[in-house]
Amino acid sequence: MCKPDPFLEKDHIMAEKKILFYDAKPYDKQFFDEANKKHAYEIQYFNGHLNRNTAYFSKGYDVVCTFVNDSIDKDVISILKDCSIELIALRSAGYNNVDLRAVYGTIHVVRVPGYSPCAVAEHAAALMLSLNRKTHRAYFRTRDGNFSINGLLGFDMHKKTMGIIGTGKIGRCLIDIALGFGMNVLAYDKFNDEKYAQKKGFEYVSLEQLYKASDIVSLHCPLNSETYHLINEDSLKQMKPGVMIINTGRGKLIKTDALIAGLKNGTIGSAGLDVYEEESEYFFEDFSNSMIEDDKLARLLTFPNVLLTSHQGFFTKEALANIANTTLENIEEY
Ligand code: NAI
Repeated sequence: MCKPDPFLEKDHIMAEKKILFYDAKPYDKQFFDEANKKHAYEIQYFNGHLNRNTAYFSKGYDVVCTFVNDSIDKDVISILKDCSIELIALRSAGYNNVDLRAVYGTIHVVRVPGYSPCAVAEHAAALMLSLNRKTHRAYFRTRDGNFSINGLLGFDMHKKTMGIIGTGKIGRCLIDIALGFGMNVLAYDKFNDEKYAQKKGFEYVSLEQLYKASDIVSLHCPLNSETYHLINEDSLKQMKPGVMIINTGRGKLIKTDALIAGLKNGTIGSAGLDVYEEESEYFFEDFSNSMIEDDKLARLLTFPNVLLTSHQGFFTKEALANIANTTLENIEEY
């Protein structure tokens, strides 16, 4: 009798898995369709977010694939469970949008921990360089025939101090970039890697010391109950006047009210934000023909010394290919 080929059998089972893809954008489809040539999953792309209203759409699928602004809270998890979802495949490194307590023991969750840390670190560096040398303003001036350089004064980054909070994959890439600029690097992490610090030539210090000494503070720790509103009135008070704050981590690491107050009274020199506390309604969408009802977001956009990007730190060809390949491999491994 002819035995079934175990590999063919496996492929057959894989191909049966149906994936509902939330918050799908054209670039997601492009990279996932390419990566899926190796897997042949049935993927349905849905451009809405996963939330309590849309979780029911998952009925008839095996896997939901989600991104940073999909809300995977207790109610959503319960609906996904009712819809017999077996796996939640996050296409992100961060998992702060998942209620881990509620999901534990119910649905398996996988994520993409290190798809391209350099992509995010390089974006943080791009924000710093633009804010410092004001290239975002110079671009518009020269196109308007204004060749004045008044108001565009920057500072040498060489020999200045960068404070990096979170020395994981992204933080470490940024440490290399900062050291390449000839900067002094101070770092804070919940778990110090002194050997690595010695090898690279940076120093772990307390948060207080980091705030006091840094010309630039860049956030690369995860969002959790300990780091929620890490940057607030108190921490800002401890920083150097004119400090530059860079956040490519998560919006809720910064208390926006405190940031706006600091920008208004001039204690914060500039802010580069790739994430925003209440970004989920706005980021990744086109609001150019409508009103921005979020007054804090609208206020942030009025400051000449604020550079806000729409959570695009991850957005490189290499990162998107890695996200797509790893997510589909995660599903296969499951
Ligand atoms: P990672 O897990 O490699 O590193 C995180 C580091 O933060 C670890 O060294 C950890 O010990 C440290 N940490 C944990 N709790 C801390 C605390 N309370 N205080 C200080 N440090 C603490 O993560 P990775 O890949 O470097 O990513 C960092 C964060 O960047 C993610 O959690 C995510 O929120 C954000 N991110 C943003 C992206 C974007 O497109 N803007 C893309 C990818 C990640």
